[in-house]
Amino acid sequence: MRSFILHKDSGHSPENELASDMQAPVEDSPSDQKKPVKKSSYERSVDVQRWLQEQALEESGVKPEFNPTFLASSRDAPWILSSLTHFYEQDLITDVLHVVKSGKEATVYCCAAHPATGAEYLAAKVYRPRMFRSLRNDAIYRQSRLVHDESGHVLRDKRRQRGNQSESGRALQISSWIEYEFETQRLLYNAGADVPCPVSQIGNAVLMEYIGAVDDPAPLLREVSLERDEAQRLFDCILNNIDLWLSYDRIHGDLSAYNILYWRGNVSIIDFAQAVDPHQNPVVYSLLVRDIERICHYFARYGVVADANELATEMWTRYMGVLW
Ligand SMILES: Nc1ncnc2c1ncn2[C@@H]1O[C@H](COP(=O)(O)OP(=O)(O)O)[C@@H](O)[C@H]1O
Ligand SMILES: [Mg+2]
Repeated sequence: MRSFILHKDSGHSPENELASDMQAPVEDSPSDQKKPVKKSSYERSVDVQRWLQEQALEESGVKPEFNPTFLASSRDAPWILSSLTHFYEQDLITDVLHVVKSGKEATVYCCAAHPATGAEYLAAKVYRPRMFRSLRNDAIYRQSRLVHDESGHVLRDKRRQRGNQSESGRALQISSWIEYEFETQRLLYNAGADVPCPVSQIGNAVLMEYIGAVDDPAPLLREVSLERDEAQRLFDCILNNIDLWLSYDRIHGDLSAYNILYWRGNVSIIDFAQAVDPHQNPVVYSLLVRDIERICHYFARYGVVADANELATEMWTRYMGVLW
């Protein structure tokens, strides 16, 4: 279990930054005020759930079993429970509130955070069992990834890197990838990148800062409409991020307006599942170009003029200059 919330090496300001960021009072915009207040049952209230758990702990001295109300009717309940119970036992979350989004490979849940984390909500990304049955076959991706054993040591054996075909071999490889996603996010967050603060990872689940309001998760960049000045600022910010990641030996590999959250005028870049280290395979330059091209393409609609190839060459030359 890798838990991180209380340790930050550099880049971001003091340790309670996450807590203060996430607990900042939400100012209602006029449109918010018009929205009808959502009714929720007494038992589903986060505070009530927390209070009931504290009462049970006080009375019996034993932490009650993890039993999120939201999961009662879910077909995936056993899988989700087995994925998230560790976070509950480690006092990182107290409840699972709702699904933020369900994708092909993973579902992201909004969880109530344990007060010890200093956050109010956390996002849990849970990979599906299907992931463990079908491995991705992208040649660049496979060659660029280090494979780790259970104790985190890099496996250099080429046969193991190509993938052991047994069930346990595949499971090890997948969880190694998820671990790599978490480690990348941690590395980049510490470096000051605009990524959600990673909190913990175990097996098929990653826990991180939740971006958005509880009933209003942050939209994707592709879902919002920007002002022109704002667009230029966000474009510069994303390009600075790509440059910063490269200086930490990482290329996102799947960057687009689908993997960037927009919240209150700022961006938060997510989904480092396909991130690669150029040291492992120099052909990843094509991934860098593709990432930059997609960003330039998205921002062109706001009149942001940029040459993706030029930007990529400039960044790569600087990176290689530092490297050699
Ligand atoms: N930290 C987060 N806070 C809020 N919403 C998130 C967070 N991380 C992911 N999401 C939501 O979950 C969706 C899926 O997450 P993502 O990491 O892109 O997984 P994938 O694309 O592999 O399914 C995102 O499009 C976004 O809407
Ligand atoms: Mg994604």
